[in-house]
This record gives sequence, structure tokens and C-alpha cells, in this order.
Amino acid sequence: MRSLRLVSILAVGAVSASAIPATKVSLPYDGFKVFRVKTHAHASEVQKKLSNITFEQWNHDVNSHIDIVLAPDQLVAFEELGLESDTMHQDLGASIAAESAHSSLWRRQAGDPAWFDSYHDYQDHIKYLQSLHDLFPGNSEIISSGYSYENRSLNGIHLWGAGGPGKPAVLYHGTVHAREWISTALVTGYNAGDNDTRSVLDKYDFYIIPVVNPDGFVYTQTTQRLWRKNRQPGPNGSTCYGRDINRNWEFAWDANPQGASTNPCSQTYKGEQPSDSPENKGLDKLVRQLRDGPGIKLYIDWHSYGQYILSPFGYKETLYAPELGKWTKAAQMVSDAIRDSSSDLTTFTFGPSGATLYPTTGAAPDHVYSIGRAEFSYTIELRDIGKYGFVLPPELIRPTVEEQWAGQKVLWSLLDEVFFDGEGPA
Ligand code: ARG
Ligand code: ZN
Repeated sequence: MRSLRLVSILAVGAVSASAIPATKVSLPYDGFKVFRVKTHAHASEVQKKLSNITFEQWNHDVNSHIDIVLAPDQLVAFEELGLESDTMHQDLGASIAAESAHSSLWRRQAGDPAWFDSYHDYQDHIKYLQSLHDLFPGNSEIISSGYSYENRSLNGIHLWGAGGPGKPAVLYHGTVHAREWISTALVTGYNAGDNDTRSVLDKYDFYIIPVVNPDGFVYTQTTQRLWRKNRQPGPNGSTCYGRDINRNWEFAWDANPQGASTNPCSQTYKGEQPSDSPENKGLDKLVRQLRDGPGIKLYIDWHSYGQYILSPFGYKETLYAPELGKWTKAAQMVSDAIRDSSSDLTTFTFGPSGATLYPTTGAAPDHVYSIGRAEFSYTIELRDIGKYGFVLPPELIRPTVEEQWAGQKVLWSLLDEVFFDGEGPA
């Protein structure tokens, strides 16, 4: 391994002012506002009132709040409902423009810390991965986990340390949901002078695919900032586009009607059949190859927003895997590491995903655990907890990456620990 300092693998999402045509993606949202409406555990009453107006909803976990996007012509009607709310975006179009109008000082190169000061377009992410490979030609390869509907390669990088490749896998997926740009922007840092990082690469091979939904990601940068799904046309005659790749995995795809939508126009449309999106087919293929080869030690699907660390199961709130204790203990330690490393005491909530948030069928962590036999399998929802939501200012990329780096170092150190081996309390 060359002793170069390399600060990032998980860089996702950033764009320079020239690369992302801000006016175009912000245009549909000029004058729109985003509110966090408080529900105080009376979600159904609030939802009933809201049913009189037109809005787009950002969150599914409505126990304490509902985050809604309102067009200018709905604002008066919303005010008349008299609901308690905070303003997340005064002018969503302006916030989206600010997200992209930023420093263009970065180079498309691994090791340049300025990479983390702005969001980047898809091509830059691909170039960045290539530059990372160029830094470590003997310890990495560019991989593809299949192709998107519009035929983009699901590119990633496979990294290994001494004695590799071939050690058990750490698999990271970013940007399954196109608008969650911070998940693209988070990549990993490797510092050859850093003992923790060196020793983890000597124990595990890393497979990092920063943009598993490239068509959706490109669409958020050219046309509609808040697109979530892939860009596959709907089934027979539907004019709606997109399957939710995170409802399309085979395991427990049809287990719970609450867990996904059968409506092609829904944000959580599950598809007509399990794994009937090209993205899912390719991602699943690599999962099964790793299972049948070196095995999967750790899987993480990176999302935003909400600050959660979630383990299986998603498909049923009352189903607890035998490993839940170990997963929860590890998540607790990651959560502590994140809080201790951040200057503003960032907190992450953790637990089994269905019970902690809401049920999801056909979601990745259940599948990669149950079919892929991953020993640890999580969804991590990055910043924030509702100040900006999906449109997180670029100044917050760096703190996000730094706190996750601290959390991942702790998690890697726990992967081979024996939990609950009979020691009593200290
Ligand atoms: N926000 C992501 C999604 O909707 C993650 C869901 C986390 N899992 C869960 N069971 N709630 O796909
Ligand atoms: Zn998501």
C-alpha cells in the first residue's frame, strides 16, 4: 500500500456551480416552502386537516411531525388550518440554488479535502473513484454491480489491504434514493498513516458503490431535485415513472401490505415482481457472489435524513432477529462515537428498523442479512433531524463525513468482537 494520505472514498453528491445547473433543478420549487408540522402523537387528526390541501410529504414516520412541501398557491389554505409548525425552507428554490452555487476549487481527485465542500455531479463521482484507484493501483479495482435502466454502470471500488484481495466483505451502498445527496457525498477516508484504517483493510475487503441509483441521481441534477426512485417507466399504461429500489429486493417483498406501495405513482412503489428493476438485479447479483465467496461481514445502505442507525427487520415491527442484541449494542457504540466526535453533540437514534421507524418490505438490509447472510446489516440515515431535510447545505458535508468516519472506525473494531459472552456488569 502506498503511504499516501487518502481522505475519501465515500464522496457523494457534490457539484460545482458550473457542473450542476442550479436554476434548472430549482425552477420547479421557486417560492415553495417546507414546513415541519408538529403532530404530538395525534398524527391522524393532523393528517385529516392536511387532506384539504395539496402537498408533498418528505417523511413516513409521522408520530412527532410531518415534513411537507407546499406550492405558493397552497400557503394561505395551509395557514388557515392553524397547525403548529416550524419552517424548514422559506424558499425551497433558493435553498436548492444555494446548495449548488459553491466553491469550484476542488479537484476531481482523491485526497483533495476541498472535494467535501460542495456537491458534485455524477460524472465527477465516477472520475473521483478512478482517481482513488489510481492512488492504490495494487490494492484496488473499479467494479460494476450491474446496470441501470438507462444503462449506466453501477460503478464502485473494491479495496483491500495486505494479503488481499479475498477477505470477508464490507459492502456500502449510497444514493439508492436519488435526492439523498449527502449519502453520495459521504465516502470513506483512508489514511495510510492511520492504524485503525490500515488494520481494517488488512482484515476486510471494502466494496463501495456510492451511487446505486445513477439514473435517479442524474435526474435530480438535471430536472427535479426531489426525485427519489429509479427512472424505469411504470407498468402497462401507467404514466408514472420509477420503482423504489429499496422496496424491490426479493426477501419478504410481499410480506406486509404496510411496507411498500403497489401504486406505480407512489414514492414507495415496489414494482410488479421482486427484483424487477435492473438496478436491483445487479446489486443482488453482487450480494450473492460475495455470500458464496468471501462472505459479507458488514452491509450499510446510506440514506438521509433523520439520523438513525437501523438494523433488521424492517418488514415486521414485532419480529426480532437472534442477533438483535449484538446489532443494537454495536449501534449504541457507533452512536456514542458520532456524538463524541461532533462539535454539536449530534445524536443518532438506533434500533430494529420496522419498530423504530415504520415497516418496509423489500428493503436492502433485510435482504442482505437474510439472503446475503451479512453478519451486520444496517440502514444509516444521515443528517439532519429536520432543519433542512434532503436539501442539506454543503457546509454540512464535512461534519457529516467526519462524524461518520468516527462511527465507522468504532464499528469496524467491533466486527470480530464476541458479544455477550457471559461477563457480568462491571
Ligand atoms: N428512509 C428509507 C426508506 O424509506 C429507510 C427506511 C428504514 N427502514 C425502515 N424499516 N423504516 O427506504
Ligand atoms: Zn432513503
